[in-house]
Amino acid sequence: MERQKKQNKIVTVIGHKGDGKTVLTELLTVANDKPAIIADPRGQYPTECRRRLSFKNPRQLKLWIYDSTNFKEFYRYKLELICSVDDENFQELAQLVYQMRSVNFVVDEVDMFFSAAATNKNYLYKIVHYGRHNLIDIISTSRRPANISRNLTSQTDIFYFSKLNEPADIKYFKNICGDKYLNAVQNLPKYSFLEVKENGNISMIRTTENEIRLIDKL
Ligand SMILES: Nc1ncnc2c1ncn2[C@@H]1O[C@H](COP(=O)(O)OP(=O)(O)OP(=O)(O)O)[C@@H](O)[C@H]1O
Ligand SMILES: [Mg+2]
Repeated sequence: MERQKKQNKIVTVIGHKGDGKTVLTELLTVANDKPAIIADPRGQYPTECRRRLSFKNPRQLKLWIYDSTNFKEFYRYKLELICSVDDENFQELAQLVYQMRSVNFVVDEVDMFFSAAATNKNYLYKIVHYGRHNLIDIISTSRRPANISRNLTSQTDIFYFSKLNEPADIKYFKNICGDKYLNAVQNLPKYSFLEVKENGNISMIRTTENEIRLIDKL
């Protein structure tokens, strides 16, 4: 019997403040073939681009997307819907995404919403475990891996790590990648990441100003 093809991708970006996580996430989102819903708790995503629309809260986004013309445009133009979220309303957005199909859910500062203590009532839990049936991808960022739910990290297909300094973070990296790249991850140049794939392949990638300029025009 043919093995079932994996239908979604979970990407986790880990790095310190200002290391370029949001920029990397923006590039990965443009490269993804699905439209995106972006949970943006700290107003990090510029909203001036043509491909983006911004919403003050999940309620406002829901009103927009429940309109059938808007819904079609979301898929047709592969839009990115940026939504302000906080502790109170994040679940409303995640529930909406859980009910959708073929969408890329981007969650900045994911440990705010899916901490190590999160339960299976959390809609991110449901998306992580069952989202593949509906082709829901996840791209999330976090500053500290130890703070993120193991439910997310254990299901992650691709990690991106920027330079790590903290012993707890280094230990975490070692658990996933072994010793071979320990030195490399502690000495990464600015805006560079180690890309760690499911099959164990590890390579260094670097975002560039050119790429930033390019996506700003989209
Ligand atoms: N490859 C790059 N070349 C030049 N500037 C970059 C690059 N990547 C990111 N920057 C700039 O560095 C700053 C920090 O980037 P970014 O916001 O992506 O970091 P971050 O890791 O998300 O930070 P935070 O932890 O505060 O969320 C931004 O001003 C961004 O435009
Ligand atoms: Mg950021």
